[in-house]
Amino acid sequence: MSEISNILSDEHKNILLVIDLIIDKSDKIQSEDKASPLSKDNEKFWIEIVEFIRNYADKFHHAKEEEILFKEFCKKESELHCNPVEQMLYEHDLGRKFVKELEEGIKENNKEKISENALGYANLLKEHIFKEDDILYPMAEEVLDEKTKGAIIKKFRDIENKKKHEKEKYLNFVEKIKK
Ligand SMILES: [Fe+2]
Ligand SMILES: [Fe+2]
Repeated sequence: MSEISNILSDEHKNILLVIDLIIDKSDKIQSEDKASPLSKDNEKFWIEIVEFIRNYADKFHHAKEEEILFKEFCKKESELHCNPVEQMLYEHDLGRKFVKELEEGIKENNKEKISENALGYANLLKEHIFKEDDILYPMAEEVLDEKTKGAIIKKFRDIENKKKHEKEKYLNFVEKIKK
């Protein structure tokens, strides 16, 4: 694996840790009495999850894919036997819809809506991450030349420098989960 795949797959690992927690908490909600309101602690947890997904999984990780890697990859479309980018973008959008519904569920204190959309997101992202790690990133590594790869890494680093504090904040969140 080269550096591009390493950086993005490491971010996937962090996202997957949060996804496991999402699945766990969603299962718990589903086994609870739906009529009783969400506890304050649970409400805080889901608000933090939405924030992590929006800022880390989406604005930080998906931005590297959508604005940088996918753009360079699509320039090589004529050399590809298939281009998975359109499907990946569709799945990013689908993920955003689940998160929007999840956020509404929290505001409405609707446990059913929360768990349904949280699980929808978690299952979508698990599959999505698998496709990128196993199909898209290896294809990109093969088709992109070294100069382009270097330029991509540089742009990744620029995002990381710009979002240094946010990155730190969300990595701390992941560390907290691990314990
Ligand atoms: Fe993606
Ligand atoms: Fe990804």
